[in-house]
Amino acid sequence: MSEKASTLLLFGATGDLSRRMLLPSLYGLYADKLLPEDVSIIGTARSELSDEEFRETAIEALRARLPADFYNEITARKFAARLSYLPVDATTPEGYDELAAKIHIDKGVAIFLSTAPSLFTTVIENLERVGLAGPSVRLALEKPIGTDLPSSQKINDAVAAAFPEERIFRLDHYLGKETVQNVLALRFANSLLEPVWNAGHIDHVQISVAEEVGLEGRAGYYDDAGASRDMLQNHMLQLLALVAMEPPADYDPEAVRAEKVKVLKALRPILPADAPDNVILGQYGEGEMKGEAMRAYADELGEKSDTETFIALRAHVDNWRWSGVPFYLRHGKRLATRKTEILIQFKCVPHSIFSNVNAVPQPNELIISIQPTENIRLKLMTKTPGLDRGGMGLREVPLDVTLDGAFSDYRRRIAYERLLLDLIEGDPTLFVRRDEIEAQWTYIDRLRASWMEAGMTPEIYEAGGWGPKSSAERMKKDGRQWND
Ligand code: BG6
Repeated sequence: MSEKASTLLLFGATGDLSRRMLLPSLYGLYADKLLPEDVSIIGTARSELSDEEFRETAIEALRARLPADFYNEITARKFAARLSYLPVDATTPEGYDELAAKIHIDKGVAIFLSTAPSLFTTVIENLERVGLAGPSVRLALEKPIGTDLPSSQKINDAVAAAFPEERIFRLDHYLGKETVQNVLALRFANSLLEPVWNAGHIDHVQISVAEEVGLEGRAGYYDDAGASRDMLQNHMLQLLALVAMEPPADYDPEAVRAEKVKVLKALRPILPADAPDNVILGQYGEGEMKGEAMRAYADELGEKSDTETFIALRAHVDNWRWSGVPFYLRHGKRLATRKTEILIQFKCVPHSIFSNVNAVPQPNELIISIQPTENIRLKLMTKTPGLDRGGMGLREVPLDVTLDGAFSDYRRRIAYERLLLDLIEGDPTLFVRRDEIEAQWTYIDRLRASWMEAGMTPEIYEAGGWGPKSSAERMKKDGRQWND
């Protein structure tokens, strides 16, 4: 299954994901000479476009998305020559035969479905019908894969009827992010951290994904999904799994994913009686961001809604390593700043030798910043310079590895570049296996049912802040605070 595909077939090729992420990522691979020479890219969507028209749309998308110092018109035109297009209305059987005729199936095909999930089943049935589901074909699916466990199982079953699990590549674009993969390098390529990576030494973990954006014109999808299904179910639980997993025997797709799934299955279900004390729901109200007045969510939506645009959670991984260590997860839209980070708060020293000299050591912290900046910072206690007549001074000083600085000779890539190349080359390590996604849904379904049963509704928070007041208060109650 690790043979390279010589055709990449993009369903939904004129859509938003394709224009913003997929085509620019493929251009990036092409420009860096990473796109295998013989790979041809076929776009399909409902619009009636000729090859030439599709190429022009693609070039426009590249110009709009790529940094000016990376985009090159000549390279873009050469890249576009690799593209072709065939209109297919995914909902009807027509067009698929023509598609199959255009593809050298025996030379390996990677199909990327970035269509509405409601079309997955129909598309897959048609692919199978025209022989585009054979052993040389692999299939990538974009989220959302379902809206709960039963609907996700239904999609997974429909896909499994045509493709065996090893040829299904479920995307979570967070796994394509360099700093997310760095969690594995940090944990398993350094002997320093692993011995203290457990309940004996770690006080708690914080995972924050703060966004400035609001609805972004996705009202139809988002109001049904909410923060729990849009971000927590996938990206945030994957981050948690990477932080909490046991070391796999090697960097092998099955070994890595088997360890992640164990963590996801060990998540303690949040029951109705636990929900009020462990879950905070919020929805953004009016506010101000960077001097600009922001509308409330309900106002953008045009009606009242109980959908959460913010969620904070105190989760637990019930296993030997993590017993008693809370994992605080927080995600929200229209927050003060865009910031994704993982914070590991270590325990205080077991005994302070400095109490008689009025100095208080603070617990060490490791902060892995994923975006917008990529860096790793370890906060260490050091002595403040001076003669210490009034007692000894201690201060936290960060040991900072700014990845942009350390790797300034490397281009920062779009997460999809890595994932598309892995898909073309057939490496599923950074794709989500069925048992992972189902464990994620099991946890989220329980969580949502519990807060509903407990009668919880979102608390309005001011756009441009850090979410509902009770989010900070909840941390305070535990003697902790969010790293805003
Ligand atoms: C998507 C969500 O999966 O991830 C969006 O649907 C969210 O709501 C986006 O804005 C965030 O991705 P990133 O890479 O910008 O952090």
